[in-house]
Amino acid sequence: MNTTLKIYTGFTLALLLGTLAIGLVASWAFLYPEIYNDYIPFYQLRPIHVSMALFWIISGATICVMNFKKEFFSSLFGSRLESIFIYLWMITIVTILVFYGFKKFGGREYWEFPPLLSLPLLAAWLLLIVSYFTDWKKLPGKQPLYVWMWSTGILFFLITFLEQNLWHIPWFRQSFLREITVQWKSNGSMVGAWNQMIYGTALLLMVKMSNEPAIARSKKAFAFYFLGLTNLMFNWGHHIYNVPSAGWIRHVSYAVSMTEWLIFISIVQGFRQKMDERSKFRHLIPYKFIIASEFWVFMNLLLALFMSVPAINRYTHGTHITVAHAMGATIGINSMILLAAFSYMLNIHSIKEEVKKRFIKYYWLSQGSLMLFWLSLIGAGIVKGYRHTALKIEPFQEMMRPVMSVLKVFSYSGIGVLIGLGGITFILLKQLKRERVAADISKPSKLYLWKQESR
Ligand code: HEM
Repeated sequence: MNTTLKIYTGFTLALLLGTLAIGLVASWAFLYPEIYNDYIPFYQLRPIHVSMALFWIISGATICVMNFKKEFFSSLFGSRLESIFIYLWMITIVTILVFYGFKKFGGREYWEFPPLLSLPLLAAWLLLIVSYFTDWKKLPGKQPLYVWMWSTGILFFLITFLEQNLWHIPWFRQSFLREITVQWKSNGSMVGAWNQMIYGTALLLMVKMSNEPAIARSKKAFAFYFLGLTNLMFNWGHHIYNVPSAGWIRHVSYAVSMTEWLIFISIVQGFRQKMDERSKFRHLIPYKFIIASEFWVFMNLLLALFMSVPAINRYTHGTHITVAHAMGATIGINSMILLAAFSYMLNIHSIKEEVKKRFIKYYWLSQGSLMLFWLSLIGAGIVKGYRHTALKIEPFQEMMRPVMSVLKVFSYSGIGVLIGLGGITFILLKQLKRERVAADISKPSKLYLWKQESR
């Protein structure tokens, strides 16, 4: 890892810490507005938390791509542009957070900063694209599946980001319905774009840990890629539930999303069978995170199936169940795969045995608390949906009274998630400090995997 990538990795891990801490404070601000409204209200904390969460995931995905692609790509050009991307991207994120700190908002959902700041983000991403694809063009022969997934993710992030900003054109704002449909659609597709980068990395990790290139060459893996691609183009149907649209659009898109997850579970299961005891022991920590992501894919699949039943969706839409779906996927799936990749990249197996034991304790604490955290959000959603839709309780305070009690469980379990994932992040940061800086990352890289796969 070179110095710039090291700084970027440290910055991204700090974003994760910030996401966790601000998320916890946001939950208190929601529960006790009478105290927090005078200092830092929920409406200010929510965008800070959500933007930090998204930047943790998107930045984390780019780190994985930039780090692992060194094994396949070898060019000087890319690394210089990449450095400019990294600094511009980081400076813009810090500026966004400063604006939030001064309650200067704008933009649209999940991207609620003053819209002008989208320009440096766009410029930075274009630099990443130029650097990545210039090197990509020089790749010899057939490329492994994860390279395709990274390329697709990087390109589609640009497309969905531009789509997300279409509201600047007055025609899109003329109709509220038109604008909101494009917003939700693009946000849904953007998830598909970062999933391509993250799932691609998961696939590479599985190949590396098991030393079985076939995992990324099987028909199943290619089906997974094409489904993911279809997903990022069409899965948005279930993101636009509240706008009038034909029922079949939602059902088809739901079916597509579910199949993608089923294939991911099946790939991880294939990987588990290929891991012998020695490899499991050697890669214990990244292995655990991959298994955790499989578990959370399964849990989110169950939740999504439950939410997609129209009779249930009538009660649950717009409740905390939607938040459980969003956080279940971003923490349980995306963050677990990123933590697997970061642990692998930072040679976590080389830490002292006692630190490893502590790491694993944090891991279990994070999994247990995340389960309670997620279930309490679902519980809050069910209670709210029942009281609002079935009992038709109108006064908001009255309707929310038992919901608030369930949300206290959510907030307490959030402390466990913070300590668990926070402890893990601190160990990774320490390990990052110990990591040797590579003299020149652009030297012809170890193409061992590539060669091994092409044989
Ligand atoms: C890696 C860690 C985390 C990630 C990636 C994450 C991600 C997210 C996302 C994407 C949302 C938006 C949900 C939506 O719009 O439906 C959200 C909302 C929220 N998160 Fe987190 N989160 C994390 C940790 C936490 C923790 C530890 C807490 C502590 C209790 C927390 C509390 C909240 C709250 C209160 C909201 C707002 C919910 C609402 O609008 O009603 N988050 N988070």
